[in-house]
Amino acid sequence: MVSEHAPQPAAQVLVASNRGPVSYAVREDGSLEAKRGGGGLVSGLSAVDDKMWVCAALGDGDREAVRRGVGEPGVRMLDIDAGTHADAYNGIANSVLWFVHHMLYQTPVEPVFDAEFRRQWASFEAYNRSFAEALAEEAGRGAAVLVQDYHLSLVPGMLRELRPDLRIGHFSHTPWAPVDYFRLLPDDIAEQLLRGILGADRAAFLTRRWADAFIGCCTEILGGTGRTRIGVHGLGADAAFLTRRAHEADVDERMAALREQVGPGRRTVVRVDRTELSKNIVRGLHAYRALLDEHPEWRERVVHVAFAYPSRQDLAVYRAYTAEVQRVADGINKTYGTADWTPVVLHVKDDFARSLAAYRLADVALVNPIRDGMNLVAKEVPVVSDEGCALVLSREAGAYEELGEHAITVNPYDVSATAEALHEALTMPDDVRAARSQRLAEAATALPPQQWFLDQLEALRRG
Ligand code: F6P
Repeated sequence: MVSEHAPQPAAQVLVASNRGPVSYAVREDGSLEAKRGGGGLVSGLSAVDDKMWVCAALGDGDREAVRRGVGEPGVRMLDIDAGTHADAYNGIANSVLWFVHHMLYQTPVEPVFDAEFRRQWASFEAYNRSFAEALAEEAGRGAAVLVQDYHLSLVPGMLRELRPDLRIGHFSHTPWAPVDYFRLLPDDIAEQLLRGILGADRAAFLTRRWADAFIGCCTEILGGTGRTRIGVHGLGADAAFLTRRAHEADVDERMAALREQVGPGRRTVVRVDRTELSKNIVRGLHAYRALLDEHPEWRERVVHVAFAYPSRQDLAVYRAYTAEVQRVADGINKTYGTADWTPVVLHVKDDFARSLAAYRLADVALVNPIRDGMNLVAKEVPVVSDEGCALVLSREAGAYEELGEHAITVNPYDVSATAEALHEALTMPDDVRAARSQRLAEAATALPPQQWFLDQLEALRRG
C-alpha cells in the first residue's frame, strides 16, 4: 500500500478507464478491504514496466481510500465529485452513449435531449477533463496513453491539447452505432464525441464492423478521420488462466451443487451475463419456453442454467429489467416445473467460481445479445467446457466475426428461430459437438489478452 501522493517516476505506459483494477469497501470495523479485478487490461498491463492506471473512484469505499491516501502502486484513483461522476457515468455514459451504440432506445418516446441533458453533458466534460489533467501530470515525455471506452471519449482531444508530445490511443469496448442511429445525438454533441476520439493518434475497435461504423460516422459528419489511424484488435479468451482457475477446488464444489440442481442425465443450456439490457436475457427465456412448447420431448430432459449478475442498479430501467428476468423465469418454472425438475435455474448473485462450473457443465451455451462489442462468454465457454459445447450465437455480437462459422447463429429478435437453434444445438451428435467446440476454442484464443494489449501498444508507438 502506498499513498497516492507518494512521488512516483513518470510513467511511460498509461491506461485510463472509468472502472479501475481495484475497488475498496469499508468494513464494519472501519478498515478498508481491497478487491482486485481481472480482465484483458489487467493481464495486458502486467507485461510492461513504468506504468500507471488512472481510474475513477466509484463508490464510498473508493473515495475513502483516496482520502486516506490508501492505494496500489501504479494506480491513481480520481476522487471526482460524486454528483459530477453520477451525471457523467449514469446520466451520459450509460444512459446515452451506451444506448446509442447498442441501439437500445424506444424511439417513439426517447431519447429527449433537453436542458437536463445539457447539464449532465457539462458534468461529462468536467469528468473527462479530470482524466485528461491527471494523465497529463503522470505521463513521462513521449509516453503512450491508452484511453478506454465511451466514458472517456473526450479525453484524447483534451489530452492532446495539454500534452502534444504523447502517443494517444483510444479503444472502444462497445459496438459503434451506424451513422443514422448515431445522428440521434444533437449535432454539436455528435461532432464533439467524434473530435474527442480523433484527438488520438489511433482509435481501435474489437471488430472490423465497429471500426467501419466509426469511419462511416466520421466521413458523414466531419468529412473523414483526419490523421487518426483506425485499428482492430479482437480480444480473445485467456486460455491459460481459465483452464487453471476452472479446476480449482471451489469450482469443483460448485459443479457438484449445480449437478444436484440440474438432476441426473439432463442436458444444460447455460448463459452467464451481467443483467444488461443489451444481453437479451428475457428473449432468451422466451426462446427456452418456446423450445419446451414446440419440442415437448425436452421437458424433464433439459435445464436452462441462467446466471444474470447485478449491473448498473442505480438506473431504474436496469432494475426493471432485472425484475422482468426473474418474473419470466418464475413463470416458466411455474408452468412447466415438476416435483423433481426445475426448468430454469436462475442465479442473480455474482460468483465467478460458479460461472466457471457452469461453463464446464454446459452442453449448449446461449449468447444472444441484441448487440455486443465482443462477448467474452461466447469465447470462454468452449475453452472451459469439459465435454465440448454447442454455441448458439447472436449475429450481432462482435464474437460472431470470429466464431460464427462454428456456431449456430441467430437473429437475436427472432425468438422462434432461437428456440429452433437451441433444439438443433441440443440434438447435435456428441462427436460433432466436441469437434465444433474444439474449433470454437481455437478461434476464441487466437489473440490472448497480453498479446492483445501489446499489439495495441506496439502499433501506437510505431506511429
Ligand atoms: O463493454 C463495456 C464495458 O465498459 C466493459 O468494459 C465492462 O465490462 C462493462 O461495460 C461493465 O460496465 P460497468 O463498468 O458499467 O459495470
